[in-house]
Amino acid sequence: MKNIHALILAAGDGKRMKSKHPKVLCRVLFKPMIRWVADACAESGIESLAVIVGEHGDEISAVLPDSVSFFVQKERLGTAHAVMCAREFLKKNGGDTLVLCGDAPLIDAAVIRDSLKLHRERHNAVTVITAEVDDPGSLGRIVRDGDRVKGIVEARDCTPEQLEIHEINSGAYWFDTKKLLEVLGRIGHNNAQQEYYLTDSLRLLSEAGEAVGGFVAADADITLGANDRKDLCRLNDIARRKIIEKHMANGVEFVNTDGILIGADVEIGCDTAILPGTILRGKVVIGEDCVIGPDTLIENSTVGDGCRIDACRIYQSTLHNGVTMGPFCHIRPNTEICDGVHIGDFVEVKNSVIGDETHIAHLTYVGDSDVGKKVNFGGGVITVNYDGKYKHRTTVGDRAFIGCNSNLVAPVKLGNRCFTAAGSTITEDVPDNSLAIARNRQVNKIGWMEHKEMKD
Ligand code: UD1
Ligand code: CA
Repeated sequence: MKNIHALILAAGDGKRMKSKHPKVLCRVLFKPMIRWVADACAESGIESLAVIVGEHGDEISAVLPDSVSFFVQKERLGTAHAVMCAREFLKKNGGDTLVLCGDAPLIDAAVIRDSLKLHRERHNAVTVITAEVDDPGSLGRIVRDGDRVKGIVEARDCTPEQLEIHEINSGAYWFDTKKLLEVLGRIGHNNAQQEYYLTDSLRLLSEAGEAVGGFVAADADITLGANDRKDLCRLNDIARRKIIEKHMANGVEFVNTDGILIGADVEIGCDTAILPGTILRGKVVIGEDCVIGPDTLIENSTVGDGCRIDACRIYQSTLHNGVTMGPFCHIRPNTEICDGVHIGDFVEVKNSVIGDETHIAHLTYVGDSDVGKKVNFGGGVITVNYDGKYKHRTTVGDRAFIGCNSNLVAPVKLGNRCFTAAGSTITEDVPDNSLAIARNRQVNKIGWMEHKEMKD
């Protein structure tokens, strides 16, 4: 559908969150609430997006794409006043505009699209997205006359009969942009909070004989907002369950979901098992037939097919196919681990490429290194990449064998099929096919203990 725009209201400070940052930056599954809303808009095909911000607008713009426009509402005089601050955006666009709240992150693209369809089919001036809930609490009540919506009454302004209505205002609405602009100036602030309520636009448009409708969301959870940390935790629980169930529907195995947190932007292939205590956050792609976990954290990384990752931390890196890793590995940013690599316990790798089928089995640090194929690192190898001032790279050729407790002092190059003797401190390049020994020869002093006085 064409000519559709969105305006997110996010000028509220959210004192009850007790945060130093604007409320809409509070996170649900590691992603700021406002990003959930903006992502749902983008996914539903919204062409242009604007956000109304209060004091800390720069913090909000930092987490949103450059294409988003921002308008500042200096004084918080209500939701209609907030919309008015984006008058230029509305005028420029025309078409239909979705107005929604930055603190209700669970709205999804399907509801946005389906409500727009109803809005356009009925030629509505405004269509409010609603839900039937057991406990309507402080939410605005939808006052209907059959299919038509007559208005929305804030809980504070409700009659006792209106308080009994269980259909509530989600705070999201599709407006015919032109009609929204016409009605905005007529909204007053004669209500319990002395605020300019956007909800009044429905009554005014209805009284003017315009078509005003409601779209009832089948899943009431999508309308939930968060005012405090307790609400936020509830939204996390709901989002967590929905995301895990989506992956189950795609063929991902969960024996038990304890401690499993999967962000919204994670893709997982079929027949992969996710074990308890696993956290996948940011943009993560995991292939098929993997076993991830237990107790693994993967952030902004790609994992190929058939990998086994046990109790590891992986950040901003790429693992190809058939990699086995863990327990207890730390893979730091900008690392590429190629096919069939085995990385064992207590290994740290940073800003390095590890070639196909290389083994780094235990207790090793590989930093700023380009490692070839089928290399074997013995236990305790360290790439000495930092001289106190600068970082340097280490290069290791194919099929090299790095003896236990070797120090590779960078910058240094080890050739193909070379061998370093255990305990060597390698400071010079090693040619192909060579053995490098860089330690003192052992001296045995025969009978030395006979003269040494020691306690029994
Ligand atoms: C609003 C609705 C209510 C609905 C509820 C859903 C009105 C009058 N009421 O109530 O019917 O059930 O949302 O959550 O609209 N904001 C601004 N500037 C302002 C005031 C608010 O940007 O001057 C933003 C807030 O940051 C928030 C959104 O608008 O994202 C909603 O404001 P809020 O104060 O939470 O409205 P509610 O009283 O919850
Ligand atoms: Ca609210």
